[in-house]
Amino acid sequence: MTEAPQRQSDTPVERLILDRWSPRAFMPAPIAREELLAFLDAGRWAPSAYNAQPWRFIHARRGTADWERFLSWLIPFNHGWAQNASAIVYVASHTVTGSEKAEPVPAPTHAFDAGAAAVLVQLQLSKAGWAAHPVSGFDHDLARAGLELPEDYALHAAIIIGRQGGVESLPEYLRGREVPSTRRPLAEVAFEGRFPANPDADVT
Ligand SMILES: Cc1cc2nc3c(=O)[nH]c(=O)nc-3n(C[C@H](O)[C@H](O)[C@H](O)COP(=O)(O)O)c2cc1C
Repeated sequence: MTEAPQRQSDTPVERLILDRWSPRAFMPAPIAREELLAFLDAGRWAPSAYNAQPWRFIHARRGTADWERFLSWLIPFNHGWAQNASAIVYVASHTVTGSEKAEPVPAPTHAFDAGAAAVLVQLQLSKAGWAAHPVSGFDHDLARAGLELPEDYALHAAIIIGRQGGVESLPEYLRGREVPSTRRPLAEVAFEGRFPANPDADVT
């Protein structure tokens, strides 16, 4: 396990949030279907516009028939490290809402809602001692086809899930990046009243 420095924030942000980060070093460990489903269940509790719950999680576990297929859509950079993970979850969302009887209506917040669900999944598994790394670096056309995703679903990202491994298991060029990243200061992203004319100016 990599001993990473603990992230700190200027306000009392929960450790659960600060301690989640996206490593690339994984141990090739199995994950039980029930355990993976329990993590995905956390995503089900995300808020969504009209409680439409547009997120969908399409998953494969290491050692199952789907595993190599799910890996194969990743770009080579991501495939290199993700092959040691335990599960891959592709996150999609329904771009329209409406019952089978009614005409479908565009769901403008489907991506926002799916992102919220994906974060809850990552927080839940991080709390349980697992690690996750979201990726959008995959061939979206191949993945859509392989997942047999209907046309009215958008495909956003995949969450690579596993047991964190030692940094020495990574190729040299990735080792320096195997640390929790920093964030922009709060003043660069939170604005009172209106968007600033010059958001990059020093706001103190
Ligand atoms: C939608 C999305 C796509 C991402 N795609 C990739 C990717 O293709 N490859 C990769 O190594 N990391 C990818 N990342 C991980 C980000 O680089 C990482 O979340 C970001 O640097 C913040 O670091 P942290 O998650 O460790 O806090 C992606 C993250 C998100 C949310």
